[in-house]
Amino acid sequence: MANLRISLAVVVLLTVPYRPGYALWCNCTTAQCQKTGSQCETDGACMASTFFNNGQEQHIRVCITRDSLVPPGQPFYCLSAEGYLNTHCCYTDYCNSMDLKIPSVTPPPELRGGYGPGGTWGLVELVAAILGPLLLLCVLLLVSVLMYHYHQRAYNHRQRLEVEDPSCEHLYLAKDRSLQDLIYNLSTSGSGSGLPLFVQRTVARTIVLQEIIGKGRFGEVWRGRWRGGDVAVKIFSSREERSWFREAEIYQTIMLRHENILGFIAADNKDNGTWTQLWLVSDYHEYGSLFDYLNRYSVTTEGMIKLTLSAANGLAHLHMEILGTQGKPGIAHRDLKSKNILVKKNCTCAIADLGLAVRHDSATDTIDIAPNQRVGTKRYMAPEVLDETINMKHFESFKCADIYALGLVYWEIARRCNTGGGVHEEYQLPYYDLVPSDPAIDEMRKVVCDQNQRPNIPNWWQSYEALRVMGKIMRECWYANGAARLTALRIKKTLSQLSIDEDIKI
Ligand SMILES: *[C@@H]1O[C@H](CO)[C@@H](O)[C@H](O)[C@H]1NC(C)=O
Repeated sequence: MANLRISLAVVVLLTVPYRPGYALWCNCTTAQCQKTGSQCETDGACMASTFFNNGQEQHIRVCITRDSLVPPGQPFYCLSAEGYLNTHCCYTDYCNSMDLKIPSVTPPPELRGGYGPGGTWGLVELVAAILGPLLLLCVLLLVSVLMYHYHQRAYNHRQRLEVEDPSCEHLYLAKDRSLQDLIYNLSTSGSGSGLPLFVQRTVARTIVLQEIIGKGRFGEVWRGRWRGGDVAVKIFSSREERSWFREAEIYQTIMLRHENILGFIAADNKDNGTWTQLWLVSDYHEYGSLFDYLNRYSVTTEGMIKLTLSAANGLAHLHMEILGTQGKPGIAHRDLKSKNILVKKNCTCAIADLGLAVRHDSATDTIDIAPNQRVGTKRYMAPEVLDETINMKHFESFKCADIYALGLVYWEIARRCNTGGGVHEEYQLPYYDLVPSDPAIDEMRKVVCDQNQRPNIPNWWQSYEALRVMGKIMRECWYANGAARLTALRIKKTLSQLSIDEDIKI
């Protein structure tokens, strides 16, 4: 917990234009502020936003504490959420009393976000942006002194937040709004990474757990109910705080949201004094994992193509770097397997379990390696991971390792395809015939690296176009040389073409 607070403190100190410790007054519209003359005091920022209540334009003005201004550059609080327009953070006294005009034309996403209404930089922000780097130097000098100071204050603020927040939460969580309303248009409304943190907390704390649906090394997965809808809740044991933090962090990467990546809803850490409950809330998919699905059902050619194409789609989005202020870094999954892919109601895939993922910072060409020491699943480890020849400094090598694992998942799916007049094989894990269950690294390495064996691709697949193409893709995912493997984008294109040839509507 102490580590988390300190790292948050560092993030905040480096994010907010530095102001030497004085309090800031803001206009405040919440009911609680009526006692204090519709104003509030904060060490962070003033925020103003516009929303519509029964067609009536209304304004909300609130204080944001400094420790809420995460992540760097684009604090959640300062981005317009679904239903909110013109969200604006500023850092001088009563600066949020400004007139909130609705822009008549919605600016393109790359101009939005950041500071100021609709992305145009106000004078104050401009000055802050220019002086920022200079002040940063001062900050670094003062950091050691302030750290202790801040630590104390952040803790006090968090304690107070528990009591204060409900008034604000009402604004976001009006009774008639469903979770879908709240979240699903975020990617188009410009923030693209999720709900504001205090909304996440409120959502998480009003979920009613129903039944346990899975267990893993990190803890348990539950089905929960929130306002009449199902959600999945991954509950981490207190020992796994780092995993929880890392996974929440990855899921909140700007612009990660995609139909073939599990939809993240909320992260919450509830400190009840003696122990911490760590929750990660996401969409719920009743079919469960691809592993469960393939065990239960065989698939048609169409089903196989839908599953494989959507998985490639999700992985391509994960891997892809998008440039620009609303861009996303390239992300490698590092633990891709059929148990970590979910099957949605429309029989397409959603990639889940991003706890081991790594992000690429292309500006410095560095990787933000997960601080936890977990490694992927041995059965799905690429040869270069098994024999430890993988170049950990090179981001591309992690993507290539993902592709190898994707090939194994494809093999699991293709075996269950009943193309040849009902002929299909029983479900098996990759290498089921070559290694025992729960194989050791050495056992895997002997088979995959030393003997260079791969799952068997039956000859009869050659007689069916779809299976022939699948077999070819798998072989090209399994090259011993990672760099020679296909890319997710290439696989996606090949499968799109196949779906057109097979006349399948996706
Ligand atoms: C903001 O607060 C100041 C000081 O209390 C007040 O004079 C001003 O009218 C307020 N503005 C709005 C829009 O509420």
